[in-house]
Amino acid sequence: MENKRSSFTGKIGFVLAAAGSAVGLGNIWRFPYLAAKYGGGIFLLVYIVLAVTFGFALMCAEIAIGRKTGKSAISAFGELSKKYKFIGILASIVPMLILPYYCVIGGWVSKYSAVFLTGGIKEASSDGFYKAFRAETFEPMGWFFVFLALTAVVVLFGVEKGVEKVSKVMMPILITLTVGIAIYTMTLPGAWDGVIYYLKPDFSDFSVNTVLGAMGQLFYSTSLAMGIMITYGSYMKKEVSIESSVKQIELFDTGVAFLAGLMVVPAVYAFDKGSLGKSGPGLMFEALPRVFANLGEVGGTIVGSLFFAMVLFAALTSSISLMETVVSIFRDKFSWSRRFTCLFVFALCIAIGLPCCLGYNVWSGVNLAGNTILDIFDTLTNSILMPIVALLTSIFVGYIIKPKALIEEIELSDNFKRKKVFEIVIKYIAPICIVLILVSSILGILGVIKI
Ligand code: PHE
Repeated sequence: MENKRSSFTGKIGFVLAAAGSAVGLGNIWRFPYLAAKYGGGIFLLVYIVLAVTFGFALMCAEIAIGRKTGKSAISAFGELSKKYKFIGILASIVPMLILPYYCVIGGWVSKYSAVFLTGGIKEASSDGFYKAFRAETFEPMGWFFVFLALTAVVVLFGVEKGVEKVSKVMMPILITLTVGIAIYTMTLPGAWDGVIYYLKPDFSDFSVNTVLGAMGQLFYSTSLAMGIMITYGSYMKKEVSIESSVKQIELFDTGVAFLAGLMVVPAVYAFDKGSLGKSGPGLMFEALPRVFANLGEVGGTIVGSLFFAMVLFAALTSSISLMETVVSIFRDKFSWSRRFTCLFVFALCIAIGLPCCLGYNVWSGVNLAGNTILDIFDTLTNSILMPIVALLTSIFVGYIIKPKALIEEIELSDNFKRKKVFEIVIKYIAPICIVLILVSSILGILGVIKI
């Protein structure tokens, strides 16, 4: 019954599609605020080291699993070894939990785009604007709904291809803008200290939390440990090189995240240095409007509107890829119609997303050690579930099917140059490090050790 799987046309098609899924709010919204929170330069350094080791090995593994089996996560693990289907199931839960709160943040971006486009730069850059918006009961819900509905409409009518075409124009504009804004920000008084904080590692800031934060961010940003790259791999042609595609996707993704940090962190130094340590998910929304306002009303409105509109687009391409994944998981399992599945996923998002919105106002009393409901979903997926999936995947590849099985797949197209790195990371480094990090963070949460 199975249809012949369609495939990407060559390497460029594959890299662009995977990069479109990878580059999103994770790079522009999440990376800068984590970098600010976890010690700037040291976070950046740990992130880069993890990207070229863990990230590289895991992405090669996931794409190779997908291409070898021609299946998406649940069936792929099941086909390689029946007993290990549960890894695929666990991986599939992650996008279901990420999508709803991703759409809440997407809603915030929509709000900022609308405010800038309608000439509201003054109010957007005023003190307390972001917090006041979040504290409203209904407005954030409305914007969440708008963003979610946009995503659902695209997935329901299957017009992703159209969106992808547009995003090929938007992406370069977004990157150019980011570079421009970063350069401008650096010239502001006080910003240079921020550049130093962001680039110069201070080893006294290093902690297990830095590594856990960077690791979760790496998985999130490159769409790893949630079955997505397996699905992408299943659409990849055998003659396309996995190794060099992975390098390009990572370079692109890390490059955008790096630039976003260079734009946001120095801006915090220039305008509100005191908020650095306390910075949370709102960092980008508080820091950037001030930079735009500094450009003057007309210039700021133009640059700000363009910027938020581009971010909105990048966020949409990612949320579409997330929803598409979730829809296909349910359809594979229950053979529901596409329309019904979309509605079901929509309802699921509302059920999880609304509490995330309410966590900033009516339900602000519901929190875990100061973490709001949205933070709790974010931590649950990034700092707990994804590391567990990554750990299981590396054990599965390292010891059950053996790295050789995937190396053969990778070598179908090309000589695998970093074969040794792949093998050592998957077999030893990844499992040991992830266990150590998970155990110490759990002990830290329980208060047994201080991290
Ligand atoms: N990687 C995306 C980002 O950085 C988020 C995402 C995760 C998108 C999983 C698709 C799938 O924003």
